[in-house]
Amino acid sequence: MELKLFRCRICGDPYLGSEPPSYCPFCGAPQKYMQPAEEYVDRNDIPNLSARSRANLEKALDLEVKNAAFYMCASNCAPDPLSKAMFKALWRTEAEHASLICKILKMPKPEIKPDDKACLKDPKANFAAAHQREERAVAFYGQSAQEASEDRVKEVFTALTEVETYHIALSEAQK
Ligand SMILES: [Fe+2]
Ligand SMILES: [Fe+2]
Repeated sequence: MELKLFRCRICGDPYLGSEPPSYCPFCGAPQKYMQPAEEYVDRNDIPNLSARSRANLEKALDLEVKNAAFYMCASNCAPDPLSKAMFKALWRTEAEHASLICKILKMPKPEIKPDDKACLKDPKANFAAAHQREERAVAFYGQSAQEASEDRVKEVFTALTEVETYHIALSEAQK
């Protein structure tokens, strides 16, 4: 099978495969955002970013960093390999979201360290806490997408809303 190069419109990361993946392996965006690499255009340089979008992106960055730190701790603490792997996948996704927001804000990538205070030892309790975190994120990103006057900011917040909604379904299944 022939390998083709795809790129995610949301995070920009490249993917090699015979078909576009059903979800971006980096940021979790669904397949509709995957495109042939030659069609990809970097749209993260937004001149005159509105004050509202900047404030919402800064708040989103804080949220993503905190959620990534939470999932990292939950993965480290998990007593079984399955929960460990699940929380690791979630931590990587949230860290990718934080990196994406930093590109738009023209900031260096934040260092993510496990938040040993936020997470618990029990994976079930962590999934319940994750559920609340993702619900807060979905509500805030949905509102931020509506408030965005820039197409790219709207697109990013819409995609993040979709990804975090899938995470809610995931944590729902683990409770
Ligand atoms: Fe992506
Ligand atoms: Fe996220």
